[in-house]
Amino acid sequence: MNQYFENNEKLKSNITKYDVKIKNTNFSFYTDKGVFNKKGLDYGTRLLLENINIDNRRTFLDVGCGCGPIGIYIAIQSNNNKVDMIDINERAVKLSNMGIKINKIKNAKAFISDMYLNIKSKYDMIITNPPIHAGKNVVYDIVRNAKEYLNYNGELWIVIRKDQGAKSLINDFSNIYEFEIVIKDKGFYVLKGHIK
Ligand SMILES: C[S@@+](CC[C@H](N)C(=O)[O-])C[C@H]1O[C@@H](n2cnc3c(N)ncnc32)[C@H](O)[C@@H]1O
Repeated sequence: MNQYFENNEKLKSNITKYDVKIKNTNFSFYTDKGVFNKKGLDYGTRLLLENINIDNRRTFLDVGCGCGPIGIYIAIQSNNNKVDMIDINERAVKLSNMGIKINKIKNAKAFISDMYLNIKSKYDMIITNPPIHAGKNVVYDIVRNAKEYLNYNGELWIVIRKDQGAKSLINDFSNIYEFEIVIKDKGFYVLKGHIK
């Protein structure tokens, strides 16, 4: 069986649209077989979006965007500030771009990138619900290298479950980031990191 982050062109398509409300924001996104959100919005993603504070931030990078709920919500919330969304899965990128279009978002785009490989800019905020199933090395590379793509005073926001290593992530990166636990709920931790 293929993992959701692998590209599998042979997998039949069955595109579904989900309508979501977070705080006062309504938006839609598309899912399909072979991508992370195929059953709708992930609880951890919802918790992250309900608690993220994007005030005064102008540029955003959604790493491992899947079908795009994080980037789409932030683009709407920030009144169309710049949002780049990246994923290694081609189908996810296509669905994210469909979501950008249906929500009439102007300043966001989704594109293929294996982690930060195709990233040329720096951002005020990097946000991720990281691909735990891709393995610890991938998750740790995403976290470690985020600092190279953050503007001065930038923030790294992560949602990760306790049983998927939230506490060890905080400890293992304590030399690079000062992490604050923004909220814990149903085993999910939402973390906000500043470069030390
Ligand atoms: C847990 S899902 C999160 C999806 C979406 N952001 C959400 O919150 O619903 C993680 C995503 O990371 C992507 N991913 C896995 N390995 C990656 C890599 N090396 N570079 C970029 N994205 C990757 C997967 O394809 C998947 O869409």
